[in-house]
Amino acid sequence: MSSENTLGVDLKNVDVAEKADGRQIPATSSRLQARDITIGYDKRIISESLSVEIPDGAFTVIVGPNACGKSTLLRALSRLLTPNSGSVLLDGKAITSYPAKEVARRLGLLPQSSIAPDGIRVADLVARGRYPHQKLIRQWSKADETAVVAAMESTGVTELSGRLVDELSGGQRQRVWVAMVLAQETPLMLLDEPTTFLDIAYQIDLLELCADLNRTKGRTLVAVLHDLNHACRYADHIIAMKDGQIVAQGPPADIITADLVEDVFGMPCRIIDDPESLTPLVIPLVRRR
Ligand SMILES: Nc1ncnc2c1ncn2[C@@H]1O[C@H](COP(=O)(O)OP(=O)(O)O)[C@@H](O)[C@H]1O
Ligand SMILES: [Mg+2]
Repeated sequence: MSSENTLGVDLKNVDVAEKADGRQIPATSSRLQARDITIGYDKRIISESLSVEIPDGAFTVIVGPNACGKSTLLRALSRLLTPNSGSVLLDGKAITSYPAKEVARRLGLLPQSSIAPDGIRVADLVARGRYPHQKLIRQWSKADETAVVAAMESTGVTELSGRLVDELSGGQRQRVWVAMVLAQETPLMLLDEPTTFLDIAYQIDLLELCADLNRTKGRTLVAVLHDLNHACRYADHIIAMKDGQIVAQGPPADIITADLVEDVFGMPCRIIDDPESLTPLVIPLVRRR
């Protein structure tokens, strides 16, 4: 195989790790990392002195109970939230040192809840994902068109293109937002609960799409998911959070144990092998009265 991955990172002189399917990814590099950040809202601190490296070329899933600080971390990693102290580095430089459009060319964020502008139609919302790529002179290019069409196709919203976003179901709307982030075509994608509102088939479709973007396009993905079994099936790397801190991280098979699940979620469980994917499958124990 070529020593260049799709991001143009030369792997010849870098430590490489092999994924389960034999693909090689840099073992030590991280285009996006937080160093010793303290983050919160006003005086309320959510995470203190948190450090994290998002592994390049991997599909990372963040799990943890409600309100433990997952979205807050994603906001800090995407510059929506400025840390009280510490720094977020994007390609080795403080994320704050880039112009906003440059950050948006490298990193796309699907926030947990987004509000569409009043009266906007699906295709127009998806097209907004192209904003960071547009030049002052030439407003709309062939590449923009191709990206929007492909993003709508892969999220199954092509038939909705003329509809008002306000009039869609929760699941349809969620797929339109995902399409907007896809159209942005960034090497790094942060998705906060992308499967919310989706029925089981669309959840799997979306996770397969993420896995495909990761595998075939070399995109680095970070997603917050609530379903631990989906996390175990799709993630290369899981980050488990509790009370604003990272309590465990690593490949699913290494870190998802009954003890960890009980510690993080306070829920007794048994772990068996998923018969389909052979990844850990979390079986909650019946709480007897
Ligand atoms: N905009 C905000 N202003 C004040 N507090 C917030 C805000 N957003 C989240 N919080 C608080 O920060 C904590 C972490 O929230 P969040 O990061 O959204 O958790 P998670 O995504 O893990 O469910 C929660 O206690 C929440 O109430
Ligand atoms: Mg959240």
